[in-house]
Amino acid sequence: MKKRVAILISGGGSNMAALVRSMAAPDHPAQPVLVLANRPDAGGLHIANALGVPTAITDHKEFGDDRAGFERAMLRHLTEAAPDIICLAGFMRILSPIFVEQWRGGILNIHPSLLPKYPGLYTHERALAAGDAAHGASVHLVTSNLDAGPILGQISMPILPGDTAYSLALRLLPHEHRLYPEVLYRFALGDQSRLDLP
Ligand code: GRF
Repeated sequence: MKKRVAILISGGGSNMAALVRSMAAPDHPAQPVLVLANRPDAGGLHIANALGVPTAITDHKEFGDDRAGFERAMLRHLTEAAPDIICLAGFMRILSPIFVEQWRGGILNIHPSLLPKYPGLYTHERALAAGDAAHGASVHLVTSNLDAGPILGQISMPILPGDTAYSLALRLLPHEHRLYPEVLYRFALGDQSRLDLP
């Protein structure tokens, strides 16, 4: 039985698209069952539609400060889709410990830094400001500590003279698109050993 995968997005959804495309391989151990966005204008929703994956929206703005209400609304969509694995892919809301507990050990996230360096926002800026020679992305298990769950995979690339936060973000994306599908494939087979890609 293929593992059922729900993908949560907030924006362009290029990582989501890479994940969905990778699961199209006939012998893949997982299948996409839902793309859920917290913004009605998330560009990735069009891509998911074009790729034939069911989509849903839970607009966080409708809930104001009521994070529990927002998560309950997301949960309704997720319960219906019954995923085995939830992939956060550019999902820009922090999930409560209660939500994370509910799917314990089954939520993955991609983060644009070589964790444990630079959890949180502005990772490209921080790597540049620190004068780092390398930058990269990590896929990790989501726990209730932000960007601090066990690392399942990492990909790195050199920082070049003249790089800006923008050029780094742009150059990193294709690396993310290589890393995340690879980690998901292994994870769906039950392999949680760490993968390091150059
Ligand atoms: C990626 O860089 C991801 O690592 C970060 O946000 C970006 C999302 O891009 N969390 P996309 O929506 O997958 O194109």
